[in-house]
Amino acid sequence: MKLSYFHVGSDVPQGVVPETAVVIDVLRATTTIAWALHNGAEAIETFADLRHLRERASLFPSSSRLLIGERGGKKLDGFDLGNSPIGVTPDVVNDKRLFMSTTNGTKSLHSVRKAKHLYTMALPNRRAVAERLIEDQPENVWIVGSGWEGAYSLEDSLAAGGLAELIGSHSSVFVNLGNDEMTAALSLWKNWEKDIEGCLRTATHGKRLINLGDHDEDFRCCAGLDQLSIVPTQKQEGVLCAR
Ligand code: MLT
Repeated sequence: MKLSYFHVGSDVPQGVVPETAVVIDVLRATTTIAWALHNGAEAIETFADLRHLRERASLFPSSSRLLIGERGGKKLDGFDLGNSPIGVTPDVVNDKRLFMSTTNGTKSLHSVRKAKHLYTMALPNRRAVAERLIEDQPENVWIVGSGWEGAYSLEDSLAAGGLAELIGSHSSVFVNLGNDEMTAALSLWKNWEKDIEGCLRTATHGKRLINLGDHDEDFRCCAGLDQLSIVPTQKQEGVLCAR
């Protein structure tokens, strides 16, 4: 299994349709996606473009939809929720369809929306995604971080390394690290795996969230390793469901 890591969606090879892609946005989009689906959201539609989101959401009765998202880490005006994973509680999201747009995470998802198999991962569902890939044994996996407005993110690289380490530890799988970014991510994981929350707080976006206010619960939740058995899976372009 060849695992390649791309720091942001715009880094992926152009004009190539990936067999399998895993999108990561640890702080906070894919952590929020995992918890929302775990807590009973019917589905999550993701949009890079807010106009398209509003058009699509207007087709759904307001009683069965929620608009969720942020720009710059701050909740969007007129949206029901920001992008905190602790905000998508069962009483809020159960049986609702979420319409989501974030600064970076939904852009990364858009960049690999044509993948034959597209999953999202964060630290809470790392093991669940690793087990799905071990079961399916794809030849090539693109792991795609979200970064920040095109820049590298420490936390997404950490999680990509954690995924590679867990897959590689399984006896039935030979992992081929497909690029230097993947090798670096694995080394990053080995350096920080005993202090995951410390790594998230060290990251540039972690510091941005700290400057925006008290996000202690967000950090605790985003650092919660292997807590969820959910594998958010793209069922149709732009639509994620639990599987
Ligand atoms: C992103 O898309 O970069 C993040 O989800 C931003 C955030 O939630 O703070």
